[in-house]
Amino acid sequence: MALDELQGEVDKVRLEWEEALASAGDPESLENLRVRFLGRKGKVSALMNRMKELEPHQRAEAGKLLNSLKQQVTDDLQKLQQALEREAAEQRFAQESYDLSLPGVWRPVGHVHPLTQVRLELEEIFLRLGFDVAAGPEVETEYYNFDALNIPAEHPARDEWDSFYVEGDLLLRTHTSPVQIREMRKRRPPVRIVCPGRCYRRENPDATHAQVFHQLELLWVEEGLTMAHLKWIIDEFVTAFFGADYEMRFAADYFPFTEPSAQVHIRPRSGGATGRHHAGWLEIGGAGMVDPKVLEEVEYNPEQYTGFAFGLGLERMAMLRWGIEDIRLFLQNDPRFLRQF
Ligand code: PHE
Repeated sequence: MALDELQGEVDKVRLEWEEALASAGDPESLENLRVRFLGRKGKVSALMNRMKELEPHQRAEAGKLLNSLKQQVTDDLQKLQQALEREAAEQRFAQESYDLSLPGVWRPVGHVHPLTQVRLELEEIFLRLGFDVAAGPEVETEYYNFDALNIPAEHPARDEWDSFYVEGDLLLRTHTSPVQIREMRKRRPPVRIVCPGRCYRRENPDATHAQVFHQLELLWVEEGLTMAHLKWIIDEFVTAFFGADYEMRFAADYFPFTEPSAQVHIRPRSGGATGRHHAGWLEIGGAGMVDPKVLEEVEYNPEQYTGFAFGLGLERMAMLRWGIEDIRLFLQNDPRFLRQF
C-alpha cells in the first residue's frame, strides 16, 4: 500500500466519522460509535493494522495521519459526551423547582444517655490516672462470676448475688468483678484497668434496685500496693467526679474476693449546705485488697504482688450528680426524663 492510498482511507473514515457523529444524540448511540471507531475491531484500529503494509520509511508519516484521526475521534467523543450530560442536567433543573419560602423541617438531634455520659467521664478520669479500659462478656460462667472470686458453690455470699441463669452453668454476670479474673489471666503485673459494664441481678425493682444496672470495676495489681494507695485513688476519683468539696471514708465490709474489704462512703464537706444533694454519708461502692486466693487463682504470686479492687455503680453516680431519685428511670427511655441531660 502506498502512503497516498492510506491518506485516502483516512479521509474516508474521517468523513464517515463526521456523518456518524452528527446523528448521535444519546449516551447509548455514543457508546456504539466509540466501539465502531475506536474499539479493538473498529475502523481506526483497522487502519492502524494496515501500517505494516507500508514501506518502513513511510511509517512515521502514516503514524501522524492515523494519530490525528484517532485524536479527533477521541476529542469529538468527549465533547459530545459532555454536551449530552450538560443537556440532561439542564432538563432536570428545568423540571425541578424549589419553594425557598417554605419553612425548614426541624430534626431533633439525639444526645448521649446520662449513664453513658457518666461512663465516658469515669473512663477519662481513670485513663488520666494511668488505667486501661477493659471489657468482658455479660453472659458468664459460674467460674468467673463466683468460683475464681473465692465464692464457692456452698458459700453463703452467693445469695447476695441473686442471679439469672441462662443454661447450665451460664448466667448473666451479677457484677463486673469477673472481668478482673479475665484480665489478670491475659496480662502480667503491673495490671491497671477499669472495666465498665452491664450487670444483672434478681432483685425486686424499687427506687434503688434494678434488675439491670451498670458497674465500673477498678483493679490495680503490682508490687508494694497497700490500702493507702487504694484510698488515694478513690480520693482522686471522688474529687475529679464530684468536686473538691466532697470527702470519702471507708467503712468495714465483707467481700469474699477482697481482704480487708471496705464500703466506700462520700459526703459533701459542707454537710450538704448546698441543698442539692443528700447531707450525710452515702455508700458509692465496695473496695478492698485483692484476696491472696484470687491472685493464686490467676497464678500471680501473692508473696510478690498485692492489689486492690473497687466496684461502683454507674446509676448511683448519675443519681448523685443530677439528684435523680429513681433508678428505674434510666432504662424506661421516657423522653421527658432523657431530654434533661
Ligand atoms: N463486685 C462487688 C459487688 O458487686 C463490688 C466490689 C468490687 C467489691 C471490687 C470489692 C471490690 O458487690
